Amino acid sequence: MIAMDATDPNGWHPFSPSAAQNAGPIFDQLLPRLAPGSRVFEIGSGTGQHAVHACTRRADLVWQPSERPEALSALRDNLERHPTPGVQPAIAYDTRTPLAAWPPLDAVYTTNTLHIMPPAAVAALFASLTDMLQPEQAFYSYGPFRFPAQPLVASNEAFDASLRRDNPDQGLRSIDWLTALAADACVVLEEALELPSNNHLLIWRRFAPSSNSI
Ligand SMILES: C[S@@+](CC[C@H](N)C(=O)[O-])C[C@H]1O[C@@H](n2cnc3c(N)ncnc32)[C@H](O)[C@@H]1O
Repeated sequence: MIAMDATDPNGWHPFSPSAAQNAGPIFDQLLPRLAPGSRVFEIGSGTGQHAVHACTRRADLVWQPSERPEALSALRDNLERHPTPGVQPAIAYDTRTPLAAWPPLDAVYTTNTLHIMPPAAVAALFASLTDMLQPEQAFYSYGPFRFPAQPLVASNEAFDASLRRDNPDQGLRSIDWLTALAADACVVLEEALELPSNNHLLIWRRFAPSSNSI
């Protein structure tokens, strides 16, 4: 399980050691893919460390963090302790309840959430991509995943088992299942970038439904 309850000397409380470790590799890949001035909507921001990391490295970004209502105040407190130009006040969002109006965005981003939220919440997130994204816009999701015809490496197998032991609704998601959910939302998996510790940054792209489809 990813520790979210630690604190650190720089005023992060809660603090996620894994978010601190993976921010460098993730944003080395992600930032060059974001056009100047991009507006990024982050789902399940957790501690807010990635929002601050991204906007510290790229002052032109407009970053919209979000969290489930029950976890929102901890996120807001962290962000207030780390005021960073470009990081917007965090908003409440649980993927099971689509927002009445999506924030203005050019990309959607989430890390280490799809194996934590229950399958219905994962499905709801993908279903909402149709409305959130315009054609050609991207959804970036980082974490450990199951790839077709590839056994999990031992560390991911153990992580998956511990997640399921704690909560049967949690567990590493299969790319096949995610791809099927995405197809229903007019979204395609464009790239799966290998990152350290057997994690991947998945790049999903919204396509326009073909004009002759029924
Ligand atoms: C392991 S933490 C990852 C937090 C952060 N993204 C990071 O990488 O440090 C999982 C996050 O998923 C969020 N989450 C779980 N279910 C959710 C849902 N249905 N909608 C939105 N966020 C959800 C949790 O609140 C939590 O912040």
